[in-house]
Amino acid sequence: MSEDQIKNLEAQFEARIARDEKIEPKDWMPEKYRQTHIRQISQHAHSEIVGMLPEGNWITRAPSLRRKVALLAKVQDEAGHGLYLYSACETLGISREELYEQLHAGKAKYSSIFNYPTLTWADIGTIGWLVDGAAIINQVPLCNTSFGPYARAMVRVCKEESFHQRQGYEIMIKLCEGTKEQKEMAQDALNRWWWPSLMMFGPTDAESIHTEQSMKWKLKRKSNDELRQQFIDQTVPQADLIGLTIPDPDLKWNEKTGHYDFGEIDWNEFWQVVKGHGPCNKERMKARVDAWENGQWVRDAAMAFAEKEQERKEKLTNKAV
Ligand SMILES: [Fe+2]
Ligand SMILES: [Fe+2]
Repeated sequence: MSEDQIKNLEAQFEARIARDEKIEPKDWMPEKYRQTHIRQISQHAHSEIVGMLPEGNWITRAPSLRRKVALLAKVQDEAGHGLYLYSACETLGISREELYEQLHAGKAKYSSIFNYPTLTWADIGTIGWLVDGAAIINQVPLCNTSFGPYARAMVRVCKEESFHQRQGYEIMIKLCEGTKEQKEMAQDALNRWWWPSLMMFGPTDAESIHTEQSMKWKLKRKSNDELRQQFIDQTVPQADLIGLTIPDPDLKWNEKTGHYDFGEIDWNEFWQVVKGHGPCNKERMKARVDAWENGQWVRDAAMAFAEKEQERKEKLTNKAV
């Protein structure tokens, strides 16, 4: 293809984005658009799957049958989100095996929040309330993103995320209505998860290297700092309502801006966890690699069965002829 032809295609592509048209897998797209989407969608898929680990750890220890059922349903939803997103990513011309390989080799990232441990039952409430709450704020704008399969996946995912957020907040309400020890447990979990939750929105706008291009492609509709502020403004009143204290002495309502002012995020901790030095990075990755290796016989058996079925069908067709 000549340079002029490519320029022409690029101009048509940009015009489609400007008109808010969806880009579908078989449409022409710039290579950078394809690669950026593979990176973001796979990172999202990996986060859903790795995100099952800290909570899955609590299914057998949930305090009642009702809590077990709700948590089980939530963790299964996360598996569904992961599979849905891997499929969306595969439409961009990368295989599932390659995506897993990138994760296992540490080349692909997943959300750093899942590298923190879940120490008590209150952590499960806090994850639903804060982590799924932050995920909703990150993901709602993606329902309008330009790449069709990703946008459609997000519509369904967001509906399920709101159930996750509510089941988490309900756990917190119950703990805060309970004994002194239960309330302390809730406060302790909030103390540990608050700052990592704020980090889920990524580096500040000044430091975010992908923001500008992603905004242009409508892969991102709001900046990291805007989304983080929205999360804080939404969450502080929820903490107040159940009598929990946000662990930030600088947190203060600002009449002028109509938003909460908040303290400095420890970006050193953020980068340490991103670089693989968080409390559970190694454990999480080992769990994923083990699951992949231990599942080899299932994949082999499924392939062998599919081949046999195919042979059987071919024999039947040949007889009929
Ligand atoms: Fe999810
Ligand atoms: Fe979720």
